[in-house]
Amino acid sequence: MARILIAGCGDVGTRLGLQLAADGHAVWGLRRDPASLPAPIRPLAADLASGSGLDALPDGLDHVVCTIAAGGGGEAAYRQAYVEAPLRLFDTLERRGARIERVLFTSSTSVYGQDDGSEVDETAPAEPASPTAALLRRGEQVFLGGPYPAIVLRLAGLYGPGRTWLIDQLRTGRARCTPGVWSNRIHVLDAARACAHLLFLREPQALYNGADDHPAPLCEVLDWLAGRLGLPAPARGTAADAMLRGNKRVSNRRLRRSGFQLRHPGYRDGYVDMLE
Ligand SMILES: NC(=O)c1ccc[n+]([C@@H]2O[C@H](COP(=O)([O-])OP(=O)(O)OC[C@H]3O[C@@H](n4cnc5c(N)ncnc54)[C@H](OP(=O)(O)O)[C@@H]3O)[C@@H](O)[C@H]2O)c1
Repeated sequence: MARILIAGCGDVGTRLGLQLAADGHAVWGLRRDPASLPAPIRPLAADLASGSGLDALPDGLDHVVCTIAAGGGGEAAYRQAYVEAPLRLFDTLERRGARIERVLFTSSTSVYGQDDGSEVDETAPAEPASPTAALLRRGEQVFLGGPYPAIVLRLAGLYGPGRTWLIDQLRTGRARCTPGVWSNRIHVLDAARACAHLLFLREPQALYNGADDHPAPLCEVLDWLAGRLGLPAPARGTAADAMLRGNKRVSNRRLRRSGFQLRHPGYRDGYVDMLE
């Protein structure tokens, strides 16, 4: 049984924590307001930005997973969540003499700035196209250059229960897409399962892409969803929109070759589950 801290324990973190606890591990969920964390995740009220509450970190931790999110804020929020918060966490753990076997950080495929529809695996250059993605990339470097063996999992767009952004866009008539522009996603349950898999993987690599098996043009996904929901097909947008979204096909080959099997290999599987 391992002692595991999930720092920034929100949607992915809670799903992961429940899975790890069901596997017999002791799990602490750290966030500013942990009141909603379900048992048996042990709640820990702390703020990684200010440092308040970090005195209560448990001793003897074996693993740390950082699933903190910037909450949609701008550059300052990204810097705080993805750069300053992990630095503070490491500083606290080091001062307490923690001997952490492995840390895992959930980053984003937005660190790949490719916009030419090319396939990107973990060997592709990660040259972010926006200042916020650049801060995520810096966060990755904090982990990979930090005091403990680290894995970075670059997640594609999350969807699943409660994460209905595309559906909401269709329902409100705001959905638009540019023909030929690719999109990538992973079901939130698979994202949490991938974290658990990597946390205990023997001889892991430092970087993994967390996407499903089927990158798909966004127009294809929206058209299919609109058909299922009986809504009008989305408007077609301009190339400028495509530039803002990026345009790449994220390969999950490395994650699959490590032995991970997706429950929802493509958007149809995941959305059918959600819509039912
Ligand atoms: N959404 C996507 O499509 C997507 C795509 C790629 C990657 N990701 C990454 O996936 C990860 C998990 O995402 P998620 O949807 O599970 O995020 P989430 O539900 O928003 O959870 C993040 C948690 O971090 C906590 N937090 C924020 N600031 C904090 C602070 N200063 N100190 C302590 N805790 C703090 C928040 O709780 P409190 O407010 O209670 O503190 C929140 O519950 C994130 O790293 C995100 O960047 C997301």
